[in-house]
Amino acid sequence: MKGVILAGGLGSRLHPLTKITNKHLLPIYDRPMIYYPIEALINAGIDDILIVTGGNNAGDFLRLLENGNGFGLKHMNYTYQKGEGGIAEALSLAEYFAGGDKICVVLGDNIIEKNIIKEVAAYKKQKSGARIILKEVPDPQRFGVPVFDGESIIKIEEKPVTPKSQYAVTGIYMYDNDVFKIAKTLKPSDRGELEITDVNNRYIEEGKMSWGILEGWWSDAGTFESLLKVGNLVIKTGANNIQQ
Ligand code: G1P
Repeated sequence: MKGVILAGGLGSRLHPLTKITNKHLLPIYDRPMIYYPIEALINAGIDDILIVTGGNNAGDFLRLLENGNGFGLKHMNYTYQKGEGGIAEALSLAEYFAGGDKICVVLGDNIIEKNIIKEVAAYKKQKSGARIILKEVPDPQRFGVPVFDGESIIKIEEKPVTPKSQYAVTGIYMYDNDVFKIAKTLKPSDRGELEITDVNNRYIEEGKMSWGILEGWWSDAGTFESLLKVGNLVIKTGANNIQQ
């Protein structure tokens, strides 16, 4: 399985911090944000990694990460997203890199306390389809929220005003190659973007979506509050701990 980290976007919710740099290069405690998803993938045994970025500061990723030697990698792959087409559009840029393999996609502002080793192992056993990872949160309305019928997820609602469960769909997704076909058929949402939730709903409709629950804390870092909160969590417990 290959890894894809989505690190584009304007980070407009973090202006003026993101006026002159990319959100994923901002510090979280002692490291730039992008270090955390890279480490999360490597901890799960995924070391063939593509960074999808864009905007005016894409070159800074190369200067910072070089060939990934600092992470024990031999090589790091990069691609450039023109414009602001959303997560699913960014994902489409990974098609050539995936080359038919399954992929684990991590949103570049998602930070975890522990690891995704069990989730990756579960998905490897799955012949086809996709897998999402959920986490119970106090503020599900900020995220994609699963709607359950018993143990099955019947759909995901993106940032619902009245969430139908207490879970967030975290920004860690596992997909087979169908994801690229699905991404090509999407229509922009009200915020003008191709939404990852629409991709996931397609897998759900086809009965090809499994799910698991993440252990340890999980946070995004796309707002001032979450950026501050996650820095404090990292100081307290560290991130990307590999013990189960
Ligand atoms: C995105 C997804 C959302 C998911 C979240 C996780 O939201 O659209 O479904 O729960 O990432 O971080 P965004 O950060 O683009 O608002």
